[in-house]
Amino acid sequence: MIKIAILGYGTIGSGVVEVLNTNSESIAKRAGDGIEVKYILDLRDFPGDPMEDKVIHDYDVIANDPEVEVVVEAMGGVEPAYTFVKRALLAGKNVTTSNKALVAKHGAELIAIAKEQNINFLFEASVGGGIPIIRPLNSSLTADEIEEITGILNGTTNYILSKMTFEGLEFADVLKDAQSRGYAEADPTADVEGYDACRKIAILTSLVCGQQVDFEDIYTEGISKITADDIKYAKAMGLVIKLLATSRKTKEGYCAMVAPFMLSQQHPLYSVNDVFNAIFVHGNVLGDAMFYGSGAGKLPTASAVVADIVDIAKHLHKNILISWSSKKMDLVDKGRSESRFFVRSAEDKEKVQSLFGEVEFVEVPQISGEVGFLTGKMSEEEFEKKADGLNVIQRIRVV
Ligand code: HSE
Repeated sequence: MIKIAILGYGTIGSGVVEVLNTNSESIAKRAGDGIEVKYILDLRDFPGDPMEDKVIHDYDVIANDPEVEVVVEAMGGVEPAYTFVKRALLAGKNVTTSNKALVAKHGAELIAIAKEQNINFLFEASVGGGIPIIRPLNSSLTADEIEEITGILNGTTNYILSKMTFEGLEFADVLKDAQSRGYAEADPTADVEGYDACRKIAILTSLVCGQQVDFEDIYTEGISKITADDIKYAKAMGLVIKLLATSRKTKEGYCAMVAPFMLSQQHPLYSVNDVFNAIFVHGNVLGDAMFYGSGAGKLPTASAVVADIVDIAKHLHKNILISWSSKKMDLVDKGRSESRFFVRSAEDKEKVQSLFGEVEFVEVPQISGEVGFLTGKMSEEEFEKKADGLNVIQRIRVV
């Protein structure tokens, strides 16, 4: 029996118990041994819960128990998760985590400790929930230079944008509805302002380039300023608005960004709706690949965590090399990144043309007193310069 301890008995922690119970036989076969939950660490008690007698409140019990070979971190947030995980690794215990905040901030250090200890620190569930993407990047796609990763990495915002698109609603109304149904957090800031997606693309970019990409360096815009009128313009052009987290390798280095983009029907992420996530990858020898599925939620995320436990069981006392050093990767300045822009302005067409030259104007019959237009491809820097003289109501990048 491989004995594990779960830190945090919330959505993910209880999901891990459920997955282990549901598929115990096949999991044991694949892991080569049974998996037994020895402890669950939580501040709360769970009277009446079948796992009630496993619940403890003192982390020392886990850290000091040599029988515990795997620690599952499902607490979320950087602290005390970081302190607990580091201590577990230093005590020779393998760790799997679903915590993107922890991985984005301390991933390189924790990977290095696991390597030194010849054990494993795995984090498949930290990006894309149940969608396999960390393991593919670290094994299946290692023959490639990954030139682009672009993902819809946040289910809450994709749900909100889908509902705005299909039902013509305003952002605030959809958010309120999503909160009342439990789809969005009571404090939705991390999701709607793009911070969650930012940490996830920081993790993916770090894995792709093998160095530390600080999430603070990634330009991040959320969807809270997207309006029903923006969606009307997008529809008039046959486009949809999606929150993309994107990272590209250019001659000058890696460019990364999180922002709402308008996508054409030809774009592989065009049809990814509701709470689903998807990650598009372009490799220099592979070409294109797409990973699509349940990017959040109790069981999909727990499925990825348990798969990490199985991988750990298959590699006990053998480190699976993950190339992600603590050396910082400086990203290319956002001003150099290029795209087309959709703009709504309170100025007239002549003023727009005097600043931008030839543009494509977009008419929406229900909207008056403003002009909407599409620019040609230009750098962010160039766009900012030209738009400086314009009364801009909205601008959204177009891919
Ligand atoms: N809040 C996240 C989302 C959960 O909406 O995608 C998964 O990280």
